[in-house]
Amino acid sequence: MLAIIGGSGLARLAGLTNTRREVVRTPYGDPSCALTFGELDNSPIVFLARHGYGHTLAPHEINYRANLWALRQVGVSAVLAVASVGGIRADCGPGTLVVPDQIVDYTWGRNHSYFEGTDQPVIHIDFTHPYDVALRARLVGAAARAGEAVIDGATYGCTQGPRLETAAEIRRMERDGCDLVGMTGMPEAALARELSLPYASLAVVANFAAGKGDSLSVVSLDAIEHVLAGAMARVLKILAVTASEQGANTP
Ligand code: HPA
Repeated sequence: MLAIIGGSGLARLAGLTNTRREVVRTPYGDPSCALTFGELDNSPIVFLARHGYGHTLAPHEINYRANLWALRQVGVSAVLAVASVGGIRADCGPGTLVVPDQIVDYTWGRNHSYFEGTDQPVIHIDFTHPYDVALRARLVGAAARAGEAVIDGATYGCTQGPRLETAAEIRRMERDGCDLVGMTGMPEAALARELSLPYASLAVVANFAAGKGDSLSVVSLDAIEHVLAGAMARVLKILAVTASEQGANTP
């Protein structure tokens, strides 16, 4: 069963049928919200709204450990994360869908590991390729079969937020090789890896990052909601195809 984590603009999955909610508790505290079980085009999925159903949790307030733990606890086989981002690269303008393949982590002070405390040995995970290669490929293939254009490959820079970045910070991120900027990709991806859960992300560009494109002098927050609302129908089509293929691939 596929898990879908919805970000800004996707607190609910339209088209999800036969739904039931389940409150799951974890040793790491409570997830962002109850999990919603349902069917997307006849394929079973579990949905979690990263910021809570009422969008009340800021990126640094999200209990990423509880979220991923809860999903593993209910037996999901893979996690697809939808995340809204700012576009740094010129071809990543508002409304573009991107399947990133790399991450640069600028966050701090978040609980970013399950392996901590003096009662257990230190464990290091391999994170050379932070997204699951096979799940990424499935997502890119599903987008093609859904007839939706996605950019295959980009580096996602994760900032602490909740404020947006300065133009100089974005220039620095660009020099670092970042193509996209978001606030929630980490530690989510690393925690999924620690739990051996295949994880991939579908990034929805909501705006050009600070100082880029039409965000040269200001990032228009009013426009963001509009762009996300317009993109979500395309996101849903891709998710539905991915979920149906996930069902076919995992008996
Ligand atoms: N910066 C960081 N996170 C974001 C942005 C941005 O410009 N847009 C949407 N999420």
